[in-house]
Amino acid sequence: MIELKNIDKSFSNNVETHQIFDDFSFKINQGDFICVLGSNGAGKSTLLNLIGGKIKPCNGQILLEDKDITSLDEYKRSQNITRIFQDVKLGTVEELTVFENLLMAENKNKRFNLSFMKNSKRKEFYKEKLKEFELNLEDKLETKVMSLSGGQRQCIAILMAKLMNPKVLLLDEHTAALDPKTSTKVMDITNEIIKEENLTSLMVTHNISHALDYGNRLIMMDKGKVIVDIDKKRTKNLTKEKLLALFKNPNDQTLFS
Ligand SMILES: Nc1ncnc2c1ncn2[C@@H]1O[C@H](COP(=O)(O)OP(=O)(O)OP(=O)(O)O)[C@@H](O)[C@H]1O
Ligand SMILES: [Mg+2]
Repeated sequence: MIELKNIDKSFSNNVETHQIFDDFSFKINQGDFICVLGSNGAGKSTLLNLIGGKIKPCNGQILLEDKDITSLDEYKRSQNITRIFQDVKLGTVEELTVFENLLMAENKNKRFNLSFMKNSKRKEFYKEKLKEFELNLEDKLETKVMSLSGGQRQCIAILMAKLMNPKVLLLDEHTAALDPKTSTKVMDITNEIIKEENLTSLMVTHNISHALDYGNRLIMMDKGKVIVDIDKKRTKNLTKEKLLALFKNPNDQTLFS
């Protein structure tokens, strides 16, 4: 589905050059839901930025469904690739209402007129979808997003991602700013939508429980490399303790027994 081939990426300032990826290759299969763990500065967000097109590699290729998208800009890629970030302000337009945000997402890449589209049928449809979240959002369709809580905003961002009908969903610590209860709720909604839409997803998280509970594949990154790549179906008895031990010793195969 997605292939990164021999990627080099470095950042330079006036003083020095910092190489993040050096001949980095990685494949993501159709329908993969990959949890990405790794220490600060390991290159997790940079990986998502390369896939999403926010940054371009210095060398190497990025393929989406065998098409070379290396030089395709972020805006064009966003037809197929949607991102949700830790900062709840980035996923929605806060000056617009919940209804307007959802309409905008559903009509992304289409010519449309916001007032024309504001028909009651759509409203009922969104209401039903929001009701499923059990966050009382179904009564807030005419509320501006700026007055919603962080968790409510992320749920709207997730529903918007679904309505945009992407092929790939990139999540960069999208529950990190939420309290534990809301973060679990947002994770459950994320998981449902990924399954419903059969989205290929990459989710960066520092939450080891989430990395254990969700997804079919788990990778650990360190210094621009994937040091552990686990197929969760083939790995029994994966625990927090084993994952922490793997961080320290990625080659310890006994941890999988
Ligand atoms: N635009 C940029 N300009 C300069 N350096 C950058 C840029 N983006 C990332 N870096 C550097 O690349 C390295 C990897 O950063 P990245 O944001 O990918 O880490 P991360 O794994 O997402 O870490 P965290 O868990 O803290 O979010 C860091 O050393 C960072 O300072
Ligand atoms: Mg990051």
